[in-house]
Amino acid sequence: MKKSLMVSLLVGASVFAADYSGVVETPNASKIIKADLLGAAKTYKMPDGCISTDPKVIARGAFIFHNLNGGKVKGNAPEGLAKKNKDGSDKQYGNCVACHNIENAKGGGNIGPDLTSYNDVFIATGARDYQFVYQKIADPRVDNPHTNMTVNLTTGLFNEQEICDITSYVVSKK
Ligand code: HEC
Repeated sequence: MKKSLMVSLLVGASVFAADYSGVVETPNASKIIKADLLGAAKTYKMPDGCISTDPKVIARGAFIFHNLNGGKVKGNAPEGLAKKNKDGSDKQYGNCVACHNIENAKGGGNIGPDLTSYNDVFIATGARDYQFVYQKIADPRVDNPHTNMTVNLTTGLFNEQEICDITSYVVSKK
């Protein structure tokens, strides 16, 4: 082998052998998985005065139900509901229509049960009460450990008041 080729091979090898561990990001997989895991299913007691027929409350619940996040919505969010989080990121909404049909849904999904006429079909008949609906939205796993529904309160996606807003909307007469 020619001397010049030998040298260039050696130089090349040393480049490949260089230690890049300081510049290459090595994500800590177990940390990420832990952060993604849901906490254990949690039972909640609906707070006093949770269910309201105030149109402003219902408007917030409807908005959360029908929208994905603050960045996707044109116009203002209803009074008392933000479009951004404190850190400036888009606020996440429920996007419940992805899985549920309901009055005035645009492209309501059918992964979950149809929630149209919910008050007449489920509440007025006594099949469900407000506490059941509140718990279902807060953490559906308590009633159904194998549910495909999103967990909304245990994950901190929404706070207690927002769960009340959404529940008030679902059980309202529309
Ligand atoms: C990924 C799909 C999915 C999403 C998103 C979803 N759900 Fe569900 N939902 C389901 C499924 C599946 C069920 C039936 C199984 C169960 O009861 O856990 C269900 C059940 C329910 C029920 C119980 C109906 C009854 O009386 O039996 C209510 C109420 C409900 N969802 C409300 C909501 C609301 C409000 C949202 C948005 C915050 C939402 N869901 C988001 C899939 C979804």
